Amino acid sequence: MGTVKIGRLLVVGIGLIGGSLALALKAAGACREVIGVARRQRTCEQALELGVVDRAVTDLGAILPQLEPGDVVFIAVPTLAVEQVFVALREGLPAGVTVTDGASVKGNVVAAAEKVWGGVPEFLVPGHPIAGSEKSGVSAARDDLYAAHRIILTPLENTGSEHLRRIVEMWQATGAEVLSMPVREHDEVLAATSHLPHVIAYGLVDTLAHDAENENIFRYAAGGFRDFTRIASSDPVMWRDIMLANREAILRAIDLYSTNLASLRGAIAAGDGEHLMGIFTRAKAARDHFTKMLARRAYTENMQAQEVTYIAQPGGKVSGKLRVPGDKSMSHRSIMLGSLADGITEVEGFLEGEDALATLQAFRDMGVVIEGPVDGRVVIHGVGPRGLKAPPGPLYLGNSGTSMRLLAGLLAGQDFDVTLTGDESLSKRPMNRVAEPLRQMGAEIETGPEGRPPLLIKGGRKLRGIDYRLPMASAQVKSCVLLAGLYAEGETSTVEPAPTRDHTERMLAGFGYQVQRDGARATLRGGGGLTGTKIDVPADISSATFFMVAAAISPGSDVLLEHVGINPTRDGAIHILRLMGADIELLNPREVGGEPVADIRVRYAPLKGIRIPEEQVPLAIDEFPALFIAAACAEGETVLTGAEELRVKESDRIQAMADGLRILGIGAEPTADGIVIRGAGEGAVFGGGTVDSLGDHRIAMSFAVASLRASDTIRILHCANVATSFPNFAELAGKTGLRLQVV
Ligand code: S3P
Repeated sequence: MGTVKIGRLLVVGIGLIGGSLALALKAAGACREVIGVARRQRTCEQALELGVVDRAVTDLGAILPQLEPGDVVFIAVPTLAVEQVFVALREGLPAGVTVTDGASVKGNVVAAAEKVWGGVPEFLVPGHPIAGSEKSGVSAARDDLYAAHRIILTPLENTGSEHLRRIVEMWQATGAEVLSMPVREHDEVLAATSHLPHVIAYGLVDTLAHDAENENIFRYAAGGFRDFTRIASSDPVMWRDIMLANREAILRAIDLYSTNLASLRGAIAAGDGEHLMGIFTRAKAARDHFTKMLARRAYTENMQAQEVTYIAQPGGKVSGKLRVPGDKSMSHRSIMLGSLADGITEVEGFLEGEDALATLQAFRDMGVVIEGPVDGRVVIHGVGPRGLKAPPGPLYLGNSGTSMRLLAGLLAGQDFDVTLTGDESLSKRPMNRVAEPLRQMGAEIETGPEGRPPLLIKGGRKLRGIDYRLPMASAQVKSCVLLAGLYAEGETSTVEPAPTRDHTERMLAGFGYQVQRDGARATLRGGGGLTGTKIDVPADISSATFFMVAAAISPGSDVLLEHVGINPTRDGAIHILRLMGADIELLNPREVGGEPVADIRVRYAPLKGIRIPEEQVPLAIDEFPALFIAAACAEGETVLTGAEELRVKESDRIQAMADGLRILGIGAEPTADGIVIRGAGEGAVFGGGTVDSLGDHRIAMSFAVASLRASDTIRILHCANVATSFPNFAELAGKTGLRLQVV
C-alpha cells in the first residue's frame, strides 16, 4: 500500500475517466474512501459491483456536507455539464475541500467558475488527464489508465498552493506525469493535437457511412481505415461539448488543415509527385519521431533526460566478422551536398545515427525532399545551390558539432535568416572558430555568450572569397569555410596547419565541383553548380576502432571489420596501434566512390606504451578515447601531446578519460594538451567501478571495451548518446563477445 495523499475522493460522474482515477487511487492506497455520484441509480449499482467506488449516490447536494478538509472532488462529467456541478458546489461545499476536473477544454471551465462564483475560487485546480479510450462508461474504467500518461494542470494565479499540491500528489499516485500550462495554451495545443483529429475522424467515417454509394464499403476497409478512425467510436456527447466549448481554437485548426488539404488536392490534380513526396516524407519523419517519443527512445530536445547505463561484465574476447555503421562525416556531407545539387543523389551505407539524422532533418526543414533512410539508403531530391527555403523555426542539431559548423558555412550565403541550436553538450562548444572566418567573408553571425551556440545567421549577405589560414587543425572549420565559398564571389582557400579529413574536398569533386589541392591549401571558386550523384558510404573507421582495440587487448581475439573507410586523413588509429605492436592486416584494399576502403583484420598481440607522434593526432582525433584503453593495457607508458582539441569535443575527453581510467586503477595524468597513461602490461587486469561518460558517445563505448581486461564489472553512466554515432553498438558488441548489458 502506498501512502495516503488525500482524504476522501468524491467522483462526480463515474465513467471511464472518473472511474479510472478512483481505481488507481484505491490500488495505490492513496485515499481513504471513494464516493461516486452518478445521475442514474443503475450506474451507482454498477460502480459498486465493479468495486470502483465504496459508496455511490445520485444526489450530489446531499453528500457534500459529509466532506471534510483534505478531501477532493473530481468532476468528470461532459464539459458543458461542469457548470451545473459548480452550482451545486457553491451551495454546499465545506471549506478546505479541493475541487478539480478532467474536462478537455479549460477556458470554458474557467469561464463557468467565474460565472458561478464571480471569480475562480482558490480551491479549484482545473486539470486535464491526457489519457482516454474510445470506450466509455464505468465498465471501461481501469486502474492503469493514467500510468505513464500526462496530466496537464492549468492553475491560475490565485490557486491555493495547498490545493495545487494535493492535486499534483493525487495524480502522481496514479503513476502519471504532472505538467502545468496556461489555460489558453492548453486549449490551443489540444485543439490541434486532439480535437482536430476527432473532427476529421468523425467526418471521414460519416462521409463513408452516409454518403458512399457502395453500402458494402466497410467490408473492404482494412487496417488503414481501422487505425485512422478508431477515435470516431468515442462518446458523441463528450465530443459535441468539446467542439462547442473550444470553438475558436478548433476553427483555427480546421482552417489550417483545410489549406493543407487543398494543397494536397492541387498536387494530386496536377500530377505533382514531387510536391506529394515533400509532404509525405516530412509527415513520415514527424510521425516516426513521435512513435519514438511514445516509446521513450526519443531523439528530442530533452534527450539528456533519458538515462541509459551500460553494465559491462569483466573478461572475454572478441571474434567474428562485422560491419559497423556508415561513416558519420561522409553521411553528413552526403545530405548537405546532395541537397544543394541539381538532380537526384542516391546514398547507400548512410549512418542512421542521431547526428546524421539531425542534418537530414535540418534539410527537410529547409524544404528538401529526402526519402529514407531505409537500411542505409537515402534518396535526396536536390534543390540546387539556391533552392533551400527558410525553415519554419530554429534548426535543432542535437549533439552534432559537425552539423552546426558545416551548416553555418553553407547557410551564411543564403537569403534567409536561420538559427542553429543544440543540446546541452553542443551548447557549450566553441563556435567562434567558424563565426570569425565567416565574418571575414562578409557573413553576419551572432553567437551566444563566449562564442557558444545558438548561432543566428542573417540572410541576404554578399560573401567574398578569402584565403584562410586555420589556427587549428580542424576539418569542420575547413569544410565550413569551403562550403561558404560555394556562395562567395571569387576564390576561397583554406590552409591547414596539419592534414585533416578531406571528405568535403573529395565529395565536392564527386558532385562535379572543382576543388584544387596544393599541399595544405584547398581552393574553390564560388558560384558553380553540383550534379546529383551516387554515394557509397563505407563503414566508419571511428566506430571500427572500438573493435580494433577490443581485439588488440583481449587474448584469443580475432575480428574482421568489413568495408571500412581507410582514407589517409583518417587512418591514424591504425598507425598508432601498429606502433604499439598491434597485429592489424588490411585486406582487399579498393577504392569506392573516390574513397579508399579495406577489410581490417585484428588479432590479439601484446601492446607496448609509446610516445604518440604529433602528426598522427589530427588523423586519429576521434579515436583517442579508445586508444587510451589500448594504452591502459600496454606495457609501459604512453604519452600523448599536441591534442588540446580533445578538450573541446562532445566532452573534455582528456579529463573524462583520465577520471574513468583512475577509477579502474590505472595511472593517468592529464596534461594541458594530452595525457600520460601507465599501462597495466600484458596479462594484467585492472579493476571495475562506476565511470561517467558525461553523455559522450565515444567515452561510453571506450569503457565498454575496457571491460575485456577488467577484473570486475564496469558500470558506465549516461550512455544514451551512443545513438548519435553508433546506434547498434551494444548489439554488435554482444555478438562479437563483449558482455554488455544496457539498462
Ligand atoms: C569532423 C571533424 C572533426 C571530428 C568530428 C567530425 C568532420 O572535428 O572530431 O567528429 O566531420 O569534419 P574537428 O574539425 O573539430 O577536429
